[in-house]
Amino acid sequence: MATATPEYLLGDAVDERTRLMAQAALLEDEARALLDRVDIPLGGDVIDIGCGPIGVLPLLSDRVGPHGQVTGFDRHGDMLDHAARTCAGLGNVRFALGDATDTGFTAGTFDLAHIRLLLVNVPDPIAILREAARIVRPGGAVVVQEVDWLSWQCEPGLPAWAELRDVLLEVWHSRGLDPEIGRRLPMLLRTAGLCEVETTARAGIDGAGHPYRRLILTFADRCRDRILTAGLATADELDALVAAVDRPLADPGTVVVRAMTVQAWGRVAGRTGMAHA
Ligand SMILES: C[S@@+](CC[C@H](N)C(=O)[O-])C[C@H]1O[C@@H](n2cnc3c(N)ncnc32)[C@H](O)[C@@H]1O
Repeated sequence: MATATPEYLLGDAVDERTRLMAQAALLEDEARALLDRVDIPLGGDVIDIGCGPIGVLPLLSDRVGPHGQVTGFDRHGDMLDHAARTCAGLGNVRFALGDATDTGFTAGTFDLAHIRLLLVNVPDPIAILREAARIVRPGGAVVVQEVDWLSWQCEPGLPAWAELRDVLLEVWHSRGLDPEIGRRLPMLLRTAGLCEVETTARAGIDGAGHPYRRLILTFADRCRDRILTAGLATADELDALVAAVDRPLADPGTVVVRAMTVQAWGRVAGRTGMAHA
């Protein structure tokens, strides 16, 4: 299938789907808090764009209830197959394959569109936000959760951490991607034509034994070939950086401040408030 945006940097292999499932569990509380702040109508029609293997599909399914409809949308068939297994018991969830810049849905189809960690993976986030705003009815909401690496560091501070983070930043930037997109969300939503834009941000702290504290090493491993090919580090330099980060992470005294999740939401101009069934 032809796609308008480049391949997802971290791939759609089993490892990545497993990581996304664990990440969704980790982010569930903050996703619930966000959905509490937007009015989702019982019986409503909502979409999770770039849902991956689960996204917030079960949470949306619960909010719209048995007479509502949730669409899980992604451009990778393997992601959607996984999501279909994850949501097997949920009768109100369906799936659609396609590119988020051109979903093929009629204008105003949905009461709400949710997007999480998709915009960080595309060079033209505005195109996706405009499409999301197009397929949501006037008065409906576009709800976004994206990352910002601003807060991503360890304590005690570690020069190798900062260096590895900067190398990874270069990998994302070389593909036109912005892992600091979170802080730009309010501006991006307004540029996409949304109104009544609100925003909030959270950053967890991952102490001893927390699986997420090694995320920087997972990324370094997944991006190893790109780092070496782009000449961002030699194999020896990269191995040395990884070892220098790995050792302190094994120390229970080291604390990792997670990259922020920035949540932003806005309304499609037109009738205010969301309809209830
Ligand atoms: C980091 S994952 C996030 C998955 C899910 N939203 C979550 O938060 O758990 C990004 C997802 O966006 C999908 N994706 C990337 N580019 C896309 C595009 N242009 N159109 C639709 N989906 C896309 C990927 O296949 C992947 O499933």
